[in-house]
Amino acid sequence: MCGIVGYVGKRDCADVLVAALSKLEYRGYDSAGIAVFVNNTIQTAKSQGRLEDLSKKMEQEGKPEGHVGIGHTRWATHGKPSDINSHPHRGGENVTIVHNGIIENYKQLKEMLIAEGRSFVSETDTEVVAQLLDYNYNGNPLETIAKTMAQVIGSFALGILFNDFPNRIYAVRRESPLIVGVGEDESFIASDVPAILKYTRQYYLLEHDEIAMLEEGSITFCNMQFRPIQKKLMTADWDMEAAEKQGYEHYMLKEIHEQPESIKRTVMPRIENGMPNLSECGITPESLRAFRNIYIVACGTAMHAGMVGKYVIEKLARVPVIVDIASEFRYRSPLIGESDLIIIISQSGETADSLAAMRLASERGAKTLAIVNAKGSSIAREADMLIYTHAGPEIAVASTKAYMVQISVMYLFAFELAYAKGKIDEAECRRLTALLLETPDRIAALLEQKEELKAMSEALVSAESLLYIGRGLDYALSMEGSLKLKEISYIHSEAYAAGELKHGTISLIDRDMPVIAVDTQPDLHKKTVSNIEEVKARGAKTLVICGESLIPSKEVADYFFAVPEIDALLMPMLAVVPLQLIAYYVSVMRGNDVDKPRNLAKSVTVE
Ligand code: G6P
Repeated sequence: MCGIVGYVGKRDCADVLVAALSKLEYRGYDSAGIAVFVNNTIQTAKSQGRLEDLSKKMEQEGKPEGHVGIGHTRWATHGKPSDINSHPHRGGENVTIVHNGIIENYKQLKEMLIAEGRSFVSETDTEVVAQLLDYNYNGNPLETIAKTMAQVIGSFALGILFNDFPNRIYAVRRESPLIVGVGEDESFIASDVPAILKYTRQYYLLEHDEIAMLEEGSITFCNMQFRPIQKKLMTADWDMEAAEKQGYEHYMLKEIHEQPESIKRTVMPRIENGMPNLSECGITPESLRAFRNIYIVACGTAMHAGMVGKYVIEKLARVPVIVDIASEFRYRSPLIGESDLIIIISQSGETADSLAAMRLASERGAKTLAIVNAKGSSIAREADMLIYTHAGPEIAVASTKAYMVQISVMYLFAFELAYAKGKIDEAECRRLTALLLETPDRIAALLEQKEELKAMSEALVSAESLLYIGRGLDYALSMEGSLKLKEISYIHSEAYAAGELKHGTISLIDRDMPVIAVDTQPDLHKKTVSNIEEVKARGAKTLVICGESLIPSKEVADYFFAVPEIDALLMPMLAVVPLQLIAYYVSVMRGNDVDKPRNLAKSVTVE
């Protein structure tokens, strides 16, 4: 949530900050701002709305011209989006900051500062930190930061300018991510790697409670006791091109098309002689045999990938799998212990609830396995075992390729577990693994049919509400299809287990409520068709995503899209593609901002 950047160098700072922020807008985009040293004085420019609103404002009113500065793109937590609540925030005469994350004790600190005679202009927790830094300021930035850090509670990252030090940026983090980029004669801070890729691929990862000081020609790190820290220089394996649209109208469409390559990059290195091999990730057949229960804990789309995992693992390996929403898991005193495995799935590796859930499970003695896309993220670093997904940078807020690689890892894991437990023999394990390797080409072929889905999507454009239904794996897929649609089209939508509909929800059905049914599982086909007939009989328009051998009659489906078949167990890898494309086309047709849907952010680092 929120993206922060900073620059020290010879270039025009405002331009660099805006370019860097444009790569972080996925973290929030309800307001943006920058602060730059201009002739040793800090000038700020900020604006409610998108980054382009800030750029327009600077075109009209002039941009602060200088070489050292910080910037911010916001996802509102404390105080509505407005010019005043936009970052950077000033604290008195000495300090200007940008902030990502939450200050949990901001109310107490604010009361203390008000009692000391200070007044506030914004509703943000950020201004409280800015004022506290100013209150603590003794002429020594490091001492000031350390003293302030001892008083604030929460997870956050800060970029700080001190008026007395116009050539420097300070940065500090607790939990929330922050990197320090290193170019030639220039340096950067950023919440995430894509922000700096235009300028450099080299960066340091700032750790929990470390302070960075950037000035021209030098970057130094220290801890809260001011002891210097030597850090390892990292190199990003993404390049700028991977983070650009490359001719696609939207990032989401580009990312949907990148799915075949993402699967290959993720799956192929984990297959040896036709068999899954996750030993490099710290997973061995012996360790797998020891687990009693598996918990899969995640948020949003990642949780839906866990739902697919549950069906596949239970079916193949016969191990009970509990899938939980991270924000629920962590507060319900889960029955998890030493003989359990908890799998955390996360694209960003920074989702606050998922991270907290993993820590809780670890405290209770469970082994933790992270399935993460962002290299070096907090979840990746803290897990006992780690499987990186190689989706590359996912920019669109609505996740597509990250989900695809998450489920492909769920399959690999399930195959390896089932084989380790003796629930499938080698021949079956090889057969399934070979089929998984076929999915990239099959998805590429499916994408060729996108015009059909575009036409089908027209039937949904004016809907106010709709339902997705399915059974078993198709229900797990319906959840993701429904989330995708509501995220970017703003049409209300729910996913329902098809057989459960008649226990209440069917009362909503009328001619104005289309139903999308997913029907790819031959053993459930007849049951699903009966459920589709039930809604059709009540006037619903029906759209069916089915397997090629399960094509519905005209009486059942108003529209259908047939997905070429593969083993039923693997159908989600293919059938999710039409669901993603339907959501995409409906959003485009409704004129929405596909890549930056309202109210959402890609990386949710607050509870
Ligand atoms: C946000 C994003 C979703 C994502 C969820 C979990 O809500 O908008 O697309 O699925 O967070 O994020 P994670 O990074 O943990 O996968």
